Amino acid sequence: MAKQIEVSGLDAYYGAHKAIEDITMTIEPRTVTAFIGPSGCGKSTFLRTLNRMHEVIPGARVEGKVRLEEQDLYGPDVDPVSVRRTIGMVFQRPNPFPTMSIYDNVAAGLRLNGRFSRSELDGIVESSLKGANLWNEVKDRLHKPGSGLSGGQQQRLCIARAIAVRPQVLLMDEPCSALDPISTLAIEDLISSLKTDYTIVIVTHNMQQAARVSDKTAFFNLAGQGQPGKLIEMDDTSRIFTNPGMKATEDYITGRFG
Ligand SMILES: Nc1ncnc2c1ncn2[C@@H]1O[C@H](COP(=O)(O)OP(=O)(O)O)[C@@H](O)[C@H]1O
Ligand SMILES: [Mg+2]
Repeated sequence: MAKQIEVSGLDAYYGAHKAIEDITMTIEPRTVTAFIGPSGCGKSTFLRTLNRMHEVIPGARVEGKVRLEEQDLYGPDVDPVSVRRTIGMVFQRPNPFPTMSIYDNVAAGLRLNGRFSRSELDGIVESSLKGANLWNEVKDRLHKPGSGLSGGQQQRLCIARAIAVRPQVLLMDEPCSALDPISTLAIEDLISSLKTDYTIVIVTHNMQQAARVSDKTAFFNLAGQGQPGKLIEMDDTSRIFTNPGMKATEDYITGRFG
């Protein structure tokens, strides 16, 4: 299921403003990759270029290549909607559909994509909620609104919704930043268990979190105000946090800026 992503020479623009420049990296399957770096260096922008969500913003565009295994995601015959299904996304604020039940939140993407019998849907909803470590907490109230859950539960519901459509990659943009410490640890445990099946990319401001959950870390930085963000280095997380190759990385992880 999990696939490798290969990015080469990628630039992303908002109108005339180049937000990120010349990014080349390989993201390994069954691995958690963390993106770190100061605010505004383009982590979220880059993440959104990986599943073609960047271009939904008016005036936004991408140059360069993103490949999911053999497939060029920006190729002429590629349907961006199917890319977003294959490469799912979880956002900073848990965003369950507020008027829908827990069950319907998880089933929403499946209902859009195809025909499933009631019992098939039941099976996928259950396995997705189990996969998101939420089943035991909600199995007796599947038909109550998702908005009645705690923030941490809502975020796990969003993860269940994302995995229900069987993606190959999960992108998470600061998925814990709106959560309390206990819920944060629950999500981190979940991320560690999901990596056996998925390629996972997580943006985080929390250095301890990057160190705890990720196998690889990519550090992004800005050369100056108004300059595009760049990838400074990417390496094993243990190496980035103990013996980074670049001075800017060391300054950032030791809290000297950012
Ligand atoms: N929707 C947008 N429209 C215009 N510029 C944007 C938009 N989103 C982000 N930017 C700009 O792109 C740059 C990178 O932002 P972002 O990707 O959000 O950085 P990060 O996630 O690392 O904080 C910033 O200069 C930001 O102002
Ligand atoms: Mg961001």
